[in-house]
Amino acid sequence: MEQTLIILKPDAVQRRLMGRIIQRFEEKGLCVVGMKLMQISRELAERHYAPHKGKPFYPGLIDYITSGPVVVMVLAGNRAIDITRTMMGKTFGYEAAPGTIRGDFGASRSFNLLHGSDAPDTAKTEIALYFRETELLDYAPSDQAWVYPRNDV
Ligand code: RTP
Ligand code: MG
Repeated sequence: MEQTLIILKPDAVQRRLMGRIIQRFEEKGLCVVGMKLMQISRELAERHYAPHKGKPFYPGLIDYITSGPVVVMVLAGNRAIDITRTMMGKTFGYEAAPGTIRGDFGASRSFNLLHGSDAPDTAKTEIALYFRETELLDYAPSDQAWVYPRNDV
């Protein structure tokens, strides 16, 4: 099963959208294998967003992601990265299609509700920033056989 890191950003927590966003991922068939509520330190934010260092929006991005509690979670499932990126929608809420999380709940350029890893290598690196291996649980939901037929690819 592929794993991906999702962060419900401070605006999602403050706007009480945690449950509704998590529900969408659960309904899709993805499995929550790790989850915590935390406040991201500037040091951790700078490590997470190192690829964006130097860009004009970088200082605001660090301020935003450290501005309040977030929920970090690891979701597992076949094609979890592509699925979650599609469900999130385009980066800016005003461009994200209706039906996507950002498209349905956001209208802003920088307050875009959630983060999702964008490739297998970044997922691995990002998960390690937030979770120890022992914090990720290896289990199969009881309806797994009804989400994925045997030999599904
Ligand atoms: P994320 O990394 O948070 O999942 O979002 P993303 O892949 O859709 O977007 P990315 O290009 O990786 O940008 C990371 C975050 O930086 C903020 N941003 N602001 N004002 C701007 O032009 C701008 N561009 C990016 C957003 O919060 C975005 O999620
Ligand atoms: Mg990104």
